[in-house]
Amino acid sequence: MRKPASIAPPKGKLGVLTPGMGAVSTTFMAGVELVRRGESVPVGSLTQMGTIRLGKRTEGRVPRIKDFVRLAELDDLVFGGWDVFPDDAYQAASKAGVLDMKDLAKAQKFLKTIRPMKAAFDQNYVKKLQGPNVKKGKNKFDLAEQLRQDIRDFKKKNKLDRLVMVWCASTEVFMKQEDVHKDLQSFEKAMKENHPAIAPSMLYAYAAISEGVPFANGAPNLTVDIPALEDFAREREVPIGGKDFKTGQTLLKTVLAPAFKARMLGLNGWFSTNILGNRDGEVLDDPGSFKTKEESKLGVLEYILQPKIYPELYGKIHHKVRINYYPPRGDNKEGWDNIDIFGWLGYPMQIKVDFLCRDSILAAPIVLDLALFFDLAKRAGMRGIQEWLSFYFKSPMCARELYPEHDLFIQSMKLKNTLRWMMGEDLITHLGAEYYD
Ligand SMILES: NC(=O)c1ccc[n+]([C@@H]2O[C@H](COP(=O)([O-])OP(=O)(O)OC[C@H]3O[C@@H](n4cnc5c(N)ncnc54)[C@H](O)[C@@H]3O)[C@@H](O)[C@H]2O)c1
Repeated sequence: MRKPASIAPPKGKLGVLTPGMGAVSTTFMAGVELVRRGESVPVGSLTQMGTIRLGKRTEGRVPRIKDFVRLAELDDLVFGGWDVFPDDAYQAASKAGVLDMKDLAKAQKFLKTIRPMKAAFDQNYVKKLQGPNVKKGKNKFDLAEQLRQDIRDFKKKNKLDRLVMVWCASTEVFMKQEDVHKDLQSFEKAMKENHPAIAPSMLYAYAAISEGVPFANGAPNLTVDIPALEDFAREREVPIGGKDFKTGQTLLKTVLAPAFKARMLGLNGWFSTNILGNRDGEVLDDPGSFKTKEESKLGVLEYILQPKIYPELYGKIHHKVRINYYPPRGDNKEGWDNIDIFGWLGYPMQIKVDFLCRDSILAAPIVLDLALFFDLAKRAGMRGIQEWLSFYFKSPMCARELYPEHDLFIQSMKLKNTLRWMMGEDLITHLGAEYYD
């Protein structure tokens, strides 16, 4: 990655487009509106509440991140999206049932103005979903061209300076990289031939990159994680990233597992189960979509614990992940973890974690941070995969010769050091030897 020579200021309006206007997306939009009206606080958002230490500890320089790097102001954000259902953002948020009626009522007028554009959708990729607000086209390439036109129209109509796209739509069925994903020429040919290896999410990513719009993938689908689109993004100087927002159970996993490894405590097994009752839960009830999520959730331990390097500690881990659709819980997921660890002389111990979380409440600030940081990356001329934003993802994309970094604290350090590097500040190593000479 080249160091930015300069960073263009965030002048004018920034459009935030979300394929999918369901629970996560509408909770994000409503929340930003309440915050900018001074009715609430952006808890969970690093860009709004986080600080960054600069220089030595003795210097006392700790600006807010948003004052250190210039990010788009919340007042300058304009929202748009696509969905399979024609509900406006108020109706969609009411059905999702994340926010209570009091908060929804405050944002009602605003949310009603946000209506979804017709989706590029195919039920073969999300089996449990069917809706009427769907585009028709000659072939997949034609659908991508329609999405490009939507992007241009949205930009013009709202007099926007810049745009970003964050995938907040349902999880698609599990797919592996195929030959048609290897370069842009094969990919475009496959779109024209309606090849099954081209999922709808790839059409949005292709349309975004073609229009110079950064693309972040909040779901575990393959989408932009293929050589054809990675190369295309570099060529067009567009930042891309993913996959899958790191919100509840995996957030805790990537905090606990590094602690065990740091102390050389062994692990025999980790059983993670979830019950949730929102539409995401219903979609994940289909084995194809569940497999995509499962792969994303399973990868984490393997990379953090490095069983090949520590065979006595992590060579025989039983790692299981289950997601059960249980409608009474709605968006309020319960994630249970049973962790079997062992210590000195191999004596076993158990840890139980029961996280009664709110899925979309955890995801909404991530959408905001990704939108603002991807816009920053674009203004700084940083193209292709933005590995420094792995902090936000369960299954982070990285350069082909690397393995992904999952440890939350390494990710956090990487993110902040990247901001320091972009702004020409010293990187922080936490050495501090000079104080003890
Ligand atoms: N909430 C979390 O904690 C969390 C964490 C990680 C990932 N995610 C992922 O984020 C995504 C959104 O979650 P949610 O809870 O908002 O789900 P949701 O079901 O409430 O919303 C998804 C919306 O996407 C729409 N959709 C599906 N395919 C589409 C397409 N091709 N084009 C346009 N719209 C389409 C659906 O109609 C639905 O309204 C899911 O993929 C989920 O797995 C959520």
